[in-house]
Amino acid sequence: MSNYITEPFRIKMVEPLRVTTREQRESAIKNANYNMFALPSKEVYIDLLTDSGTNAMSDTQWAGIMVGDESYAGASSYYKLRDAIRDIFGYRYMQPVHQGRAAEKILYPCLLKAGQYSVSNMHFDTTRGHVGLCKAKPVDLVVAEARDTEANYPFKGNMDVEKLEKFIIEKGAENIGVIVMTITNNSAGGQPVSMQNLRETFALAKQYGIVLNIDAARFAENAMFIKEREEGYADHSIVEITREMFSYADSFTMSAKKDGIVNMGGIIGIKEDSDLFTKVQALTVPYEGFVTYGGLAGRDMEALAIGLYEALEEDYLAYRLGQIRYLGDKLREGGVPIQYPTGGHAVFVDAKRVLPHIPYYEYPGQALVIEAYLEGGIRGCDIGSYMLDPDPETGKQMEAEMEFARFCIPRRVYTQSHLDHIANTLISVKENADSLKGYRIVWQPEVLRHFTAKLEPVG
Ligand code: F0G
Repeated sequence: MSNYITEPFRIKMVEPLRVTTREQRESAIKNANYNMFALPSKEVYIDLLTDSGTNAMSDTQWAGIMVGDESYAGASSYYKLRDAIRDIFGYRYMQPVHQGRAAEKILYPCLLKAGQYSVSNMHFDTTRGHVGLCKAKPVDLVVAEARDTEANYPFKGNMDVEKLEKFIIEKGAENIGVIVMTITNNSAGGQPVSMQNLRETFALAKQYGIVLNIDAARFAENAMFIKEREEGYADHSIVEITREMFSYADSFTMSAKKDGIVNMGGIIGIKEDSDLFTKVQALTVPYEGFVTYGGLAGRDMEALAIGLYEALEEDYLAYRLGQIRYLGDKLREGGVPIQYPTGGHAVFVDAKRVLPHIPYYEYPGQALVIEAYLEGGIRGCDIGSYMLDPDPETGKQMEAEMEFARFCIPRRVYTQSHLDHIANTLISVKENADSLKGYRIVWQPEVLRHFTAKLEPVG
């Protein structure tokens, strides 16, 4: 039975939404060439494209916006953020940047040499991109359970530690520039990584002298999953769990647009390596701005320093994970297959199973997302073969292992009845699945095609 955990806040300001008809949506999606990223937000009723930068800030954060220190150098908001990072994560050094990929752009060239490997439970797309820009090779070694959407496994985001050790021995530790632990594991469905897995992976990294970097975008959600699911952690506070998680790494890159509960921001954290911090600072100045603001306004740093603490509040996290679980349970009760157990920030609908008659080269994930928009004004995105660029050597369409339609829930934004509307829409899409058709690409750019490609329905 789906169970909703009541919001630990009330609403003080509202943003009106526009309700459209199916006819209006048919015309809007056609004008957008069937690409969700080309839809103006005013054509969308419930926007589940991402949970990144789409969060609602609290009254305390908005108050912080008013007192942000906009000094070019040495702003008090910078020190407030630095102290929060020291307190929460136990890391001595931090560099603010404008978002997660900026952190990657600066840190990865400091860690990776051309020809080396970056080994991860799963690289997020931008991380994979930055590894490639370093002329290094990204390798994903997530546990096998992650690929079985029905397997009820508590930590589907885990690294396969056995495979990792084999890989290190086979390639030679000197050829591995970095090990990356993405928490939670976004691409596997917002799935958590256990403390034991972080501990074991870090032990291997140290044994072989390899740097371990955490991709920390959804660190607070991961900490709450550990508290709820891992033996021995029920009585630990979320801050204690967070500190222990980050004790099993040397550095982190964070897109603060997720668990920082802000609309823009990123952080590089370094535990103790002052030489690495010096290199990071040297690259920050030309890429992002002076080191005490790194691409952020003083007010952004102020709101982030507050948001990081709010993200660690237990009643908030219980509500947050409870909300996604509620939606996942409703979908399963309605016969919609999803990556299960439900992840921390989104439901990932298994489009391969909803639309078995649509082959990968006609993009079942994208077909499902488009129908959800037509049916209920909801905007999700494809995480499947449509998102994959063509094979760089043969130019052929590649087949993704999983065909997901992802529906992300922004933090503190939508209510229970919004979630009911989302569930009812997706259940009705599933019930009409037989009548749905695939799509073909009529134009695409050279890289990252899913953002700008143009499509049309098949047949
Ligand atoms: N790492 C992870 C795990 C992410 O999910 C993202 C962004 C990034 C890094 C990059 O951060 O966007 O601030 O530059 N994920 C968003 C998403 C875009 O929709 O999943 P960014």
